[in-house]
Amino acid sequence: MATAGTVLTYRKLLRPDAAALRAHLARLPAEDRRARFLGVADRTVARRHVAGIDWERAVLIGGWQGETLRAVGELHRGAGAVEGEAAITVEPAWQSRGVGGELLRRLVTAARNRGVRRVRLFCLADNARVRRLAARLGGALVEDGGQADATLEPLPATYATLLAESVEDWETLLARLRRITIPVPPGSGRTLHRAA
Ligand SMILES: CC(C)(COP(=O)(O)OP(=O)(O)OC[C@H]1O[C@@H](n2cnc3c(N)ncnc32)[C@H](O)[C@@H]1OP(=O)(O)O)[C@@H](O)C(=O)NCCC(=O)NCCS
Repeated sequence: MATAGTVLTYRKLLRPDAAALRAHLARLPAEDRRARFLGVADRTVARRHVAGIDWERAVLIGGWQGETLRAVGELHRGAGAVEGEAAITVEPAWQSRGVGGELLRRLVTAARNRGVRRVRLFCLADNARVRRLAARLGGALVEDGGQADATLEPLPATYATLLAESVEDWETLLARLRRITIPVPPGSGRTLHRAA
């Protein structure tokens, strides 16, 4: 279980966070990886997925416990596409605490701000949690064999959605700056100094 009193902070992932994403996906129990990768639990599939991410176009929002990535929401879209595909993973200790819902809400905001008009969530047909999350946002669900496909139709962007994402981006930047160590000139009595 997550330690009492601990919280996740939300910030975006950038290319240098690929290792944290790989580690998060590797920590998932096989059953959850199978749910994420539609029937394939093998860790190599997760590694291949991370290697293939188009970091310029994808939006990945993490739920971080300090420096450890505990949950992630991914929005992938092709060049010029008005359609995107979303996926969410939350480590077991953090499930059923609203994290998946929060990540999906943020992904929809990101989709709105990029003119994405349809967000598809693919899952196994027996994935009741994803189905519940998608239904909460008005997602239309189609079942095909053992899989289900929920389509969300985000509204156009507003000043409020742009502002919400902008705040998230500032938080991401601030978190990065905090990690940068700046050498202090010799003779100042200190060798290293945190930027913020
Ligand atoms: C699916 C997943 C992302 C959900 O994350 P989460 O943090 O547990 O989600 P939340 O706590 O925000 O919400 C879960 C919702 O499902 C509901 N739920 C939980 N168990 C349920 C069940 N057995 N049947 C129906 N609904 C259920 C919860 O009540 C909640 O809905 P509510 O907020 O309206 O009450 C997480 O379980 C996960 O990572 N699963 C493995 C990977 C996966 O399946 N990814 C999805 C592929 S796209």
